[in-house]
Amino acid sequence: MSIKVDSGSEFYDQQIKVAKESHEMVGWSSKWSQEARFDSICRLICFATDNPHIDLGDFGCGDAALLPWADKVLGARLGKYVGVEIYPPLAEMAKERLRGSSDCIKSELVDEVDFWVASGTFYRKGKTPEDQWEIWVQDVVEKMLKLARVGVCMNFLFKSKCDKFDDDLYYTSMGVWRTKFSEYCTTFVVHPKLYEFTMSIVRR
Ligand SMILES: C[S@@+](CC[C@H](N)C(=O)[O-])C[C@H]1O[C@@H](n2cnc3c(N)ncnc32)[C@H](O)[C@@H]1O
Repeated sequence: MSIKVDSGSEFYDQQIKVAKESHEMVGWSSKWSQEARFDSICRLICFATDNPHIDLGDFGCGDAALLPWADKVLGARLGKYVGVEIYPPLAEMAKERLRGSSDCIKSELVDEVDFWVASGTFYRKGKTPEDQWEIWVQDVVEKMLKLARVGVCMNFLFKSKCDKFDDDLYYTSMGVWRTKFSEYCTTFVVHPKLYEFTMSIVRR
């Protein structure tokens, strides 16, 4: 299915102009919150598989800040890393971070890995209508699943935990995604301090 969605480039143009630190460029309020998201994702990967080798795909990787965190949590189990990033300045920064390694940054989701993950990639819908955005997200998650030998993991803004809403953001519930992927094993983590949930979807 081909759906046109807002890429969020105007938002990231602004962020890059004012950001003093890497996490601010991708819209996170603190390095701690960026790493808390990475931590939930990496722990859900560990929870889902005892594979000694995990190739990791990162859809909407920003400047590939997940890589050092995954390295810390997965250690010697971490295999190759592939990032996908649509916004060219961030893709360039990610390539710079990976310089000298065999890991790579691409503009499309094409690689087969063990786990595809997405942190924050499905938050900013911009001017895309909510129903269109949800169809696009489902389409992308299905594509990630097809390319993942074990499963996928991503986070979403948690509608029932939020009391303020921004029209440019997409809020959802666990039930919506549990139902959409009911033929898989779904696991959720709710961080006590973030208005989000993290979900893994793994083949039964
Ligand atoms: C909130 S940022 C998070 C970046 C990174 N995952 C992190 O946590 O540091 C979301 C990222 O997803 C990227 N993105 C959004 N839509 C995308 C798409 N269709 N394909 C690839 N990247 C996308 C954005 O450009 C942005 O870098």
